[in-house]
Amino acid sequence: MSLTVRPGIEQIVGYVPGEARSPANTRPLRLASNELPFGPSKAVKSAASAICAVANRYPDGGAVLLREQIGRLHRLEVDRVLAGSGSEELLQLVCRAFAKDGDEVLSSQYGFMMYPIIARSVGATPTFAEERDFHVDVRAMLAAVTPATRVVFLTNPANPAGTYVPRSDLELLIRELPSDVVLVIDEAYAEFVDAPDFASALPYAREASNVVVTRTFSKIFGLGGLRVGWAYAPREVVEAVNKIRLPFNVSAVGQAAAIAAMHEPDHVQRTRAYIRQAREWTSERLLKLGLQVAPSVTSFILVGFPTGCPGTAAEAVVDLRSSGILVRPLGAYGLHNHIRITIGAHSDMRRVAARLASYLKRAARK
Ligand SMILES: Cc1ncc(COP(=O)(O)O)c(C=O)c1O
Repeated sequence: MSLTVRPGIEQIVGYVPGEARSPANTRPLRLASNELPFGPSKAVKSAASAICAVANRYPDGGAVLLREQIGRLHRLEVDRVLAGSGSEELLQLVCRAFAKDGDEVLSSQYGFMMYPIIARSVGATPTFAEERDFHVDVRAMLAAVTPATRVVFLTNPANPAGTYVPRSDLELLIRELPSDVVLVIDEAYAEFVDAPDFASALPYAREASNVVVTRTFSKIFGLGGLRVGWAYAPREVVEAVNKIRLPFNVSAVGQAAAIAAMHEPDHVQRTRAYIRQAREWTSERLLKLGLQVAPSVTSFILVGFPTGCPGTAAEAVVDLRSSGILVRPLGAYGLHNHIRITIGAHSDMRRVAARLASYLKRAARK
């Protein structure tokens, strides 16, 4: 007799993380996973390493200090804050708590790759609403809701597009979505945004009975390696997730580092300003090379190779890799003419722009 994997799981095309190694260099330039180019501050490092002295002790399973600090920072009720091993864990747990075999889990055309994987993992069917020019179309999302839809995932701002849903559209989605559907608004990149008509869903979630907002310490706080995320959710959702999460899901090191990082608002502000400036510089450079760049409010850019361009996305990825630069190919999203480039240090951005320029020149001579 042989083992039988559950049908939903068999259908999953596994998540392919951004490349982290390159054949050419022992230390590649990693621009494929939306990581910050610099490590944590001294204070965060020392808070994290202090925990190693008591690593024999389990972490606080309720992550109380971490959740209290999140509550203070964002003015949220602490008993509605969940901590997770990265926000990804919370996305998964919410879906597991509310969707089952035969249900539908809706996201937008170029939503984060993990949503359909999570949907399949619980036996549900992933469904998608078309986007308009790399912008989420909330009207199309509402139209794609069926009686079988149990969970809707919205990434705001979006990955890999880097665009955002403006406040009025967010309000429309929250208002019009049936109240028996859980709306998960994934704000992994929200802290990078400074557009005036962007709104976090946190204040809306306070009043709504079906809205969950997820955030992470992996992006602007630069703690991706420590796996800390959080969610603000209705009490009913918190209760359900607490029943099924692992009892010690956030490591003690992660909790200590995240708490210390929240004490450094200036650091976050400097990071936001730096990323914005480097993103604008890079976008301008690549536009001058004849490439397309979607208007990003995040720590990465979606770069297109238009018709008539001498190069292709697939070849560019290979060429960049051969010089030790790793960017994200987007074939898994059906975006065969695009790549995603994470904003790194100034020198990284100069290097990737120069290499793309040289690649396009060589491609034009072919
Ligand atoms: C849109 C989006 N949501 C969630 C995550 C997961 O982040 P975390 O590290 O908190 O699990 C990512 C990571 O790349 C992301 O891009």
